Formats: sequence, C-alpha cells, structure tokens
Amino acid sequence: MQLTFFGHACFLVDTGSHKLLFDPFISPNELAKHIKIDNIEADFILLSHAHGDHLANLIPIAKRTGAKVICAPDISGWLAKNGLSNVHVMNIGGAFDFDFGKVKCTVAHHSSMLPDGSYGANPMGFIVYAAGKSFYYSGDTGLTLDMQLIPKWAKLDFAVLPIGDNFTMGAEDAALAATFAGATKVIGVHYDTFGWIKIDKAAATKAFTDKGIELLLPDIGETVEV
Ligand code: NI
Ligand code: MN
Repeated sequence: MQLTFFGHACFLVDTGSHKLLFDPFISPNELAKHIKIDNIEADFILLSHAHGDHLANLIPIAKRTGAKVICAPDISGWLAKNGLSNVHVMNIGGAFDFDFGKVKCTVAHHSSMLPDGSYGANPMGFIVYAAGKSFYYSGDTGLTLDMQLIPKWAKLDFAVLPIGDNFTMGAEDAALAATFAGATKVIGVHYDTFGWIKIDKAAATKAFTDKGIELLLPDIGETVEV
C-alpha cells in the first residue's frame, strides 16, 4: 500500500486496486505549488469535514476523475449544487463495504462549515480496511478518549494524524492519540501550511519516538510505502 502526501491534510492511498484521495486542498497551499492537480487520479474522495482547507479542490478533481465522494449527509446538498451526484453519505459510527474495502466513520472533535457559510455537519475521521491492511485518518480533531475504541475495531498498520496544533492536536497530543488508537506508525499532517501551525519537526518527531512510535513526515509530492 502506498501513500502520497499532497500537503496540508491531503493525501492519496493507493490500495493496489483503488486510489483513495483524502481532503483535497492543494492549489491554495503555497507549499504545494509544484503539485499538478490535473494529474491526480482518484476512484474515491473521502472528505472529513467541510472546511476550505480540506475541500478547496474537491469539485474539479471529482468532476474530472468521476471519483465517488464519501462524506457526511449534510454536505451532499452543497456537492449537488456544485454538480456532483456520485456521492455516498455516511455518518459517525457507521461502516459500509465498498468495492475496495470497508470504511468506518469515527468521532472527530472539531467544527465544520461549508465555504458558502452553510452547515457543514459534524466532522469525522475514518478507519479504512483495504487490501489486508487497516489505517485510521482522524481528520481535524483534538485528542479524544473515543480514540481508545479504535483498537477494538482495527489493528492499525498506520494512522494519519494532524500535528500542527492551534486548530487540531499538536504533536504531543497526536502521539497520545496514536497510543490510544494502537498505531506504531504515524504520518503527520496539518502542519506548516499557515503561520499558526508551523512546527519544529525534530521536536514533533521526538514526541512520537519517546512513545515508541515512528513519525513519517513525507515531502509534499513524496510517496511512502505504508
Ligand atoms: Ni478544519
Ligand atoms: Mn483543517
């Protein structure tokens, strides 16, 4: 299984048979100017919540690729208004078997509002089971005790967690989140994009290694084996 980081909280997981794109926000990101959005392939787009820094490029990528969007029910009206109908709506606690594998939606403690100011639903995280592996993407969230439930649902191969602080968990809390979730390998996201979430990478890495967890911080555009 391969993960490509596209900056901020946008990444693509290639299961070998399907390409799953998460939270497409690329072109407004000054650090991701070298990423060619028109070359990104996707079979599914998973949207954790409705903030602009997670969906800025969703509509054009979904239209070009024909990818099915997986998101909260309350967001589907906005997608329809923007011409997207290939949508599968889910809500927190629910799981569904897709052709690539299973997705289970988890609690995320955050906020959510669509770019036009309309209601953006409760933010979610996802556990994805595919190609004999499982991983957890928490979405934007603070540390929550609900994460202690994750080992009851999956033996994670890796987790994707925000580490930028200010809007989400910082590295210390994210390392604790990894222990709650039972992940020993973490891909850190949601950092460095804006001034308030600039991090010290060495300190962030230490917060994880102190707990025996590997933190991967791929370059934007880099693909790592997971
Ligand atoms: Ni957000
Ligand atoms: Mn965000």
